[in-house]
Amino acid sequence: MDAIRVRGGKPLKGTVKISGAKNAALPILCATLLSDGQSRLRNVPALRDIDTTAALLRFLGRNVRVNAPEVHVDAGSDVRPEAPYELVKQMRASVLVLGPLVARFGRAKVSLPGGCAIGARPIDQHLKGLEAMGCKIRLERGYVIAEGPNGGGRLRGAEVAFDLPTVTGTENLMMAAALAKGQTTLVNCAREPEVEELGRVLNKMGATVDGAGTDVIHIRGKDQGELEPFDHAIIPDRIEAGTYMCAAAILPGGDVIIEGAEIHDLEALVMKMRAAGVEVATEGQSIRVRRNGPLRGVNVTTAPHPGFPTDMQAQFLVLMCTAASESVITETIFENRFMHVPELLRMGGNIALRGNTAVVDGAERLYGASVMATDLRASASLIIAGLAAEDETEVRRVYHLDRGYERIEEKLGGLGATIARVRGAES
Ligand code: EPU
Repeated sequence: MDAIRVRGGKPLKGTVKISGAKNAALPILCATLLSDGQSRLRNVPALRDIDTTAALLRFLGRNVRVNAPEVHVDAGSDVRPEAPYELVKQMRASVLVLGPLVARFGRAKVSLPGGCAIGARPIDQHLKGLEAMGCKIRLERGYVIAEGPNGGGRLRGAEVAFDLPTVTGTENLMMAAALAKGQTTLVNCAREPEVEELGRVLNKMGATVDGAGTDVIHIRGKDQGELEPFDHAIIPDRIEAGTYMCAAAILPGGDVIIEGAEIHDLEALVMKMRAAGVEVATEGQSIRVRRNGPLRGVNVTTAPHPGFPTDMQAQFLVLMCTAASESVITETIFENRFMHVPELLRMGGNIALRGNTAVVDGAERLYGASVMATDLRASASLIIAGLAAEDETEVRRVYHLDRGYERIEEKLGGLGATIARVRGAES
């Protein structure tokens, strides 16, 4: 298994270009199931999750050509509306085929994703919404079996109020509603930019989606046939951008231009970084991050968008490990998303965990160590810690990282970091 070695101590300087957003590309790839003909996605990052989704679409019977940053999908011959455990267990977002499959083909059999490193992550809200649209749902031997009304007919538009905002839940129901008869209203929706992006694509495909990116979405579905294929360039990855923002600020003297990032999608992070004493400015289509003096500790509580993203909690926590005063970091989205903390303690971090809260006291210094990543964002946070640490840090099990960060060692290397991938290192 590969590892990444980082030698800390050098502030980052230079320009880094942000790739397309993984969490926007995944639902949009699944949306291709709603049409025949050839769709073209541009600005798709070269990542393992994209390959897993391509494999899943091929299993379902689609022709998929991945040649990052482009992906072409067209209808194959036969469709097999079934997502097996082997693929779903590699990537929870595979559940995003459930809505489009049942809307388009009247039935779907999709493995339940099961728990994952960061929490239980149920899909009850997805299922509740599909039931409201007339789906019959059974759970059988670890699979969700969904069938359209009257033994596989067209879904009906419905009113669905989510008990809590869910990103993939909102996306799944938007895709299902796009081929349902009549109007669907979704209330208490996730407002993430990736949801808004899916709305744009569904509109390009001929559905009428209004309000994506707000908490109420109206969708008028196409009640016969399928949607049109599309050509679309994916928005930049705000979490990748935020990760480089934290990396830029981890050492005094850091000065990085993050190219192609959308600052409006990162407002909560930008405000917290400024409060901590980091200079964050826009320069055209870029964000410039500079750190000069010491950092102040600032408190952060994760929340659905536009709140502070849970996907930035680990990276920001590492930044706070280098601050001159205490900070309190509270995680409200996932119940087990502090797996990076024990590893950071091994690097000299001063962190006390109490339930869903981490109290972080700035450490004099962090030390290099061998550490192990347990999920995607935790892996990125350990690399950022390595950039600040004395000596060498080895981050193991970087396959998590390869799910969501395109060429991270090259990008950080381009900013002056001493970083290398070690192929086949001990796991
Ligand atoms: N939840 C339920 N029932 C549901 C659905 C969700 O209780 O039916 C709960 C979850 O357990 C969680 C909360 O609702 O406590 C929010 O989960 P959400 O459904 O929004 O998460 P997700 O859609 O599974 C997406 C991203 C995650 C990101 C979260 C939160 C994708 C493919 N994944 O997951 O991204 O952390 O939203 O913003 O969009 C990552 O990229 O590293 C990542 C984990």
